[in-house]
Amino acid sequence: MKVVLAYSGGLDTSVAIKWLQEKYGAEVITVTLDVGQMEDLKSIEEKAKMLGVAKHYSINAVEEFAERYVAKAIKANALYEGKYPLHSALSRPLIAEKLVEVALKEGADAVAHGCTGRGNDQVRIEVTVKALAPHLKIIAPVREWELSRDMEVAYAKERGIPVPVKDKPYSIDQNLWGRSIECGPLDDPYAEPPEDAFEWTVNPSQAPDKPLYLTLTFRGGLPVALNGVEMSLKDLVIELNKLAGQHGVGRIDHIEDRVVGIKSREVYEAPAAVCIVEAHKDLEKMTLTKHELSFKSMVDEVWTKLAYEGLWCDPLREDLEAFIDKTQVRVEGEVKLKLYRGWLTVVGRRSSKSLYDLDLATYEAWGKFDQKLAKGFIELWGLQSYLARGKR
Ligand code: ARG
Repeated sequence: MKVVLAYSGGLDTSVAIKWLQEKYGAEVITVTLDVGQMEDLKSIEEKAKMLGVAKHYSINAVEEFAERYVAKAIKANALYEGKYPLHSALSRPLIAEKLVEVALKEGADAVAHGCTGRGNDQVRIEVTVKALAPHLKIIAPVREWELSRDMEVAYAKERGIPVPVKDKPYSIDQNLWGRSIECGPLDDPYAEPPEDAFEWTVNPSQAPDKPLYLTLTFRGGLPVALNGVEMSLKDLVIELNKLAGQHGVGRIDHIEDRVVGIKSREVYEAPAAVCIVEAHKDLEKMTLTKHELSFKSMVDEVWTKLAYEGLWCDPLREDLEAFIDKTQVRVEGEVKLKLYRGWLTVVGRRSSKSLYDLDLATYEAWGKFDQKLAKGFIELWGLQSYLARGKR
């Protein structure tokens, strides 16, 4: 049997290589994606080879992740349950896609991943694999073997699998769009996250005592320039993660509803995502009509839920994107952000597509808004309400 395993280089998936070889007598092919997690793919590849895999694929997918996943999340203002920018969730269908690609190329019988049975990631990967290649068997070693960490370490040591010395008690998943921190002291939802949970953001109390002003330029609903300098979405996100992180912006502490019913405490760092979504929403308010905005907020929420819940492959996602993309044509202009000690504030916006009209909005006498029209409008606007009150 030939199995293609999504390999992170961590303990779970390293043990999974041996386990697949022993339990299934499988020929294991490993795949590691670069989605901007800032890890050394070369050493991950060497580790896989040392563990006796038949073949290893290192795939640079950062641009693709930015263009095909992050960009859509920006246009949809994606914040699951109002807070989570979906970074981990967005990477899973891409990982699944690449697994399938390699499996088809290699004529494999199965794909495998290192997700537990308690989380969303198993759902996201497996639903996508089933949609793309229903004939492939799916093996989830970590879910099947139910090893505790101690048992896993013992298993690894017996077989000469290097056990990384864990300096921190957290489970981390990170990519271009953000960083997820789980487990250890964070499992107590009342306990404040210890400072060592954070790596991308400084403690706001240690941030410079001077605000940083940034401008984001949007075109077609996407940020295309930072402080006037045009750059790719990928580069812009990398740069903004750094700048906003230095000012303590982007920490998120969230009680989240997983697909499998569990409520979990999640801590995230997503400096760029927080800034971009806030700026994007603000610019939409200036360029879309109130009718578009209220309908779009519902569409955004459904899109976000589909992405979170592992239904990336459902046609509804693309149906919704057809609507979203149509609205984004007018979402262009500049947003001025102020970052100060963990605070993010939009302090200015301008757009050639702006629906804000000073001649209408001003309270000054020279304003063009014909106040006389308001009188009749109010008669009609409340008409049914007046009638209904008369019947009480
Ligand atoms: N709660 C987030 C989600 O479900 C983060 C998951 C992080 N994944 C992980 N393997 N640590 O998308």
